[in-house]
Amino acid sequence: MAKKIIALAGDGIGPEIMAAGLAVLEEVAERFQLDLTIEHHLFGGAAIDVYQHPLPDSTLEAVRSADAILLAAIGGPQYDQATIRPEQGLLALRKELGLYANLRPVKLFDSLSDRSPLKANLLTGVDFLVVRELTGGIYFGTHHLEEDKAFDINSYTREEIKAIVRLAFEAAQRRRKKLTSIDKQNVLATSKLWRKVVDELAQDYPDVEVEHQLVDSAAMLLITRPSQFDVIVTENLFGDILSDEASVLSGSLGVMPSASHSLNGPSLYEPIHGSAPDIAGKGIANPISMILSVAMMVRESLGQEEAAQVIESAVERSLEKGIRTQDLGGKATTAEMLAAIISEL
Ligand code: IPM
Ligand code: MG
Repeated sequence: MAKKIIALAGDGIGPEIMAAGLAVLEEVAERFQLDLTIEHHLFGGAAIDVYQHPLPDSTLEAVRSADAILLAAIGGPQYDQATIRPEQGLLALRKELGLYANLRPVKLFDSLSDRSPLKANLLTGVDFLVVRELTGGIYFGTHHLEEDKAFDINSYTREEIKAIVRLAFEAAQRRRKKLTSIDKQNVLATSKLWRKVVDELAQDYPDVEVEHQLVDSAAMLLITRPSQFDVIVTENLFGDILSDEASVLSGSLGVMPSASHSLNGPSLYEPIHGSAPDIAGKGIANPISMILSVAMMVRESLGQEEAAQVIESAVERSLEKGIRTQDLGGKATTAEMLAAIISEL
């Protein structure tokens, strides 16, 4: 039976990079005889414009019945002062689908080392995975705002922490067997519980080396010694901040994919960058983060390891040939970057 893929192109450069990602997916589907149907739905600002809501019922119903979801990007300056923002749709989508585990791999392309702000010697061997808790913490606690006072509640249950930490231990077992848990245990109660749960679970994974880092010092180590990390696990807010920080190591946000998993529903795959409204519609956006998100989907939701590798090495070879979009210091358009990748498939 055909696998149903839901495409949420969203806003800004979203539609342009989604088209590129789907072109690669269709090419690979033909080559590997994958039976797929692709359905497009409105999401984010594009959905607000039509339905006055970033996650309309029709979209939610569609994603619930999907085998996998591809999301490009949402948001735009026209919604900055609006009462309903595109980002609310993203948070609602994560919550509704129980997408508690956000995986953000940080793997550098040798051919882009000149784009990194770090010295080349610091970049050798950098290859780690940020596992970010995605449906709890301060993002989903009570938010309260009045004229002269505001607060946001950060709360985690033992079960929420256990679920994400287990997944991170298992990821570490498949990699270099090192887990770094990042918290703010010297100040926050949630972090004290977090650290306790990590230590308890560590008993079940004796083959994985565990270390704890405080988030402030971890932020520093990501720049000064990035190659020492293998799997990082952390709460929602710290993961948001640290994964953006980590992404600059590669030289551009435009090459960073991500996957979000639930316990037993469809997974969602998306670039970690935003909708880049300043370059939207110009045909110059870098499609690589979307294409690599497609590769993650092909591997993790469709179980097609070989097809995923074909996509990833086509991206790598196009970059080695010097084809680069503007964010990478080149002149290639989205279409030219895509054509180069497709010809390498
Ligand atoms: C991300 C984004 C989102 C987040 C925003 C758009 C709500 O920054 O996916 O990292 O903070 O989670
Ligand atoms: Mg973010």
